Amino acid sequence: MLSPVYSPYALVPERAEGIAIHTDRGVYLDTYAGIGVLPLGHGDGEVLRAIQEKSARFVHLSNYFVDPDGAWMAEQLLAQTGGAGSVYFSNSGTEAVEAALKAAKKSRKGSIISFEGDFHGRTLGALSVTWSPSIREPFEPLLPDCVLLPRRGDALRAFARERAVAAVVLECIQGNSGVLPMDGDLADAVQAVQREQGALVVADEIQTGLGRTGSFFAYEHFGLRPDIVAMGKGLGGGLPLGATLFCGWEPFGPGDHGSTFAPNPVSLAAGRAVLRRLTPEFLQEVVRKGEVLAKGLSALPWARSVRGLGLMIGVSASDAAEVRRKAFDRRVLLNVAGGAVRFLPALTITDAEIDEVVRLLDFS
Ligand SMILES: Cc1ncc(COP(=O)(O)O)c(C=O)c1O
Repeated sequence: MLSPVYSPYALVPERAEGIAIHTDRGVYLDTYAGIGVLPLGHGDGEVLRAIQEKSARFVHLSNYFVDPDGAWMAEQLLAQTGGAGSVYFSNSGTEAVEAALKAAKKSRKGSIISFEGDFHGRTLGALSVTWSPSIREPFEPLLPDCVLLPRRGDALRAFARERAVAAVVLECIQGNSGVLPMDGDLADAVQAVQREQGALVVADEIQTGLGRTGSFFAYEHFGLRPDIVAMGKGLGGGLPLGATLFCGWEPFGPGDHGSTFAPNPVSLAAGRAVLRRLTPEFLQEVVRKGEVLAKGLSALPWARSVRGLGLMIGVSASDAAEVRRKAFDRRVLLNVAGGAVRFLPALTITDAEIDEVVRLLDFS
């Protein structure tokens, strides 16, 4: 039997394209892109072609080979952060965070700070900087020197006055807690600790990166300049791929870190097909469509409050689970996170699809 860690739908999937998932019980609309994994939607032609072409040549060689798609992606990703530095590719978001934590432990002394509401992954290192007590506490004790603070500038300032800070790990917009942007005062405090103590700022862009919020990285909205950026989810166009970007520096030497599978060459080819599409014009469309979707959702009778940036939108409801159930009956798949309905649709969602989703979610 399968491990019971997930709560799957009673649906048998047959094929998927755009935001539509064809199943044995009809066509369902996916409003969260496979949990934020498919920026270009299901079955994008260019991504599929890249996967087919690469896998016809090889599916795995080993980390004794440099993959040209990986080298290209590294340059493109670093260009988004200012140019120099290095990229360590892995297979998932939590692995991208592990590499960031190892870099912090190797290069700085002091505590690793994260904030209430943060989610950074489920391996033991990433779990040590993850807030949710229900998923963290059964596995304690975790890494020493990881401190979860209230998500406020004054809490970080007070801590940094007394103790050395090696790194601050943060989600600029918390995804799993229900799409909650950080405030400007916390961003100021993070910058102050970086400037005054040389603490590393680790931006977890696993959910928010790759144009999801209308800028390539969400930290751009908050004026941060991270030392490390963790990426995953959509980076491999639906195939497993994570990346840890070291902005302007390199923490590791030969043998310091690694994985048999990382990076997978087919994931890199798919990722290259995704990155090529994320032009400034494409991102402007994400902003525009995000506004259209947010406006439509705000008018729904069950929507208490709507927040987010670009196509990362959280909607509070008095009973989000009930909204999810009603939507399922209308063949709209919703994702509930932190008690809110979390929309992370394909960035390629069309205006007509937005209208259709909003229409189906009006239960009145
Ligand atoms: C912000 C954030 N960090 C880390 C992770 C962990 O990524 P993965 O599930 O690929 O290990 C997630 C996944 O939801 C995430 O949203």
